[in-house]
Amino acid sequence: MTSFQGTPTYPDHAWHGNATVLENVQIARATFRIRLASPPLAERIVPGQFLMLRLPRRDDPLLGRPLALYAVVPDASGRPHAVDVVYLIIGRMTSRLREVPAGAKLDVWGPLGNGFPPDEAEHLVMVAGGIGQTPFLSLGREFLGMQRYGKPPRAVPVAKKATLCYGARSAEFLAGVSDFEAAGIEVHLATDDGSRGHRGLVTDLIAPLVAKSPWPCRIVCCGPEPMIAATARIAQRLAIPCQVSLETPMACGIGACFSCVARIRDESGNWDYRRTCVEGPVFDAQHVVFDNEELGAPSAREAE
Ligand SMILES: Cc1cc2nc3c(=O)[nH]c(=O)nc-3n(C[C@H](O)[C@H](O)[C@H](O)COP(=O)(O)OP(=O)(O)OC[C@H]3O[C@@H](n4cnc5c(N)ncnc54)[C@H](O)[C@@H]3O)c2cc1C
Ligand code: FES
Repeated sequence: MTSFQGTPTYPDHAWHGNATVLENVQIARATFRIRLASPPLAERIVPGQFLMLRLPRRDDPLLGRPLALYAVVPDASGRPHAVDVVYLIIGRMTSRLREVPAGAKLDVWGPLGNGFPPDEAEHLVMVAGGIGQTPFLSLGREFLGMQRYGKPPRAVPVAKKATLCYGARSAEFLAGVSDFEAAGIEVHLATDDGSRGHRGLVTDLIAPLVAKSPWPCRIVCCGPEPMIAATARIAQRLAIPCQVSLETPMACGIGACFSCVARIRDESGNWDYRRTCVEGPVFDAQHVVFDNEELGAPSAREAE
């Protein structure tokens, strides 16, 4: 049973203010890392939580956009000082964000959402597709005992190993691989065109990795919904605990608008709509009702 208690889940724990941009640099094709100075946010946020980012004095886009914590950056004395966020250029907000220079201020509120639970994982297997790797650098660092998060800092049982399975369209979209390797996380890559790592789906990597692991695995997953759904089915087949972080579009991030709902089952198997921004974005994979679930069984490839 997943323990989601103990993390600051609700927006009344959040900070809202203007954060100064310290840097905004390109790290892969159409992918940037922005560093925001905000000690109140940096000291409270835990892996899997997100913040809402809005361009001030603009009405296009009017609403903020949710972006996951990538890293907490300490100051010279070691205290949490800034947060890093990695974003892929998708549309109106992210294409303007790339132009924001160091020294500018952004409207920020967070931390938001529940984050990944600090449950034991002897071998933490992080499965990411597209830009879904962003929550996993901080999570991997936390589970390898390199960094603590939250106020007060939460306790997490140290894992024996952390592995990232990361899939992207092609090598040029892979963002932050060296950050993960520098943190001691073993990285397995997959690309659609075979330009780096396994040619094919990142979900192809999961079962062989789990079969070879000498330790019990726990899977965490983030990315496009079909890939999350496939990972959830693989975890169920292998009887491995799995939590997923859903990236539903969000308007407010604080539970007020219901634009972010997902279908989530309760313990008795009945489902209802849950707000991803306050009751997620992290859910137990077996509780999520995925869009194509009623369409039938897993594909032949996954069933192999
Ligand atoms: C909890 C959470 C964490 C996230 N973390 C990150 C992150 O770390 N890095 C990152 O790059 N992105 C992340 N996202 C996704 C990010 O919020 C969207 O890509 C962003 O809102 C796009 O804004 P935009 O104005 O550039 O695009 P828009 O102009 O708003 O949208 C362009 C197109 O993308 C579609 N779209 C927008 N948001 C989503 C979505 N979430 N899923 C599917 N389609 C969408 C729109 O319907 C539209 O068709 C996260 C989302 C959530 C909910
Ligand atoms: S984004 Fe408004 S309720 Fe979740």
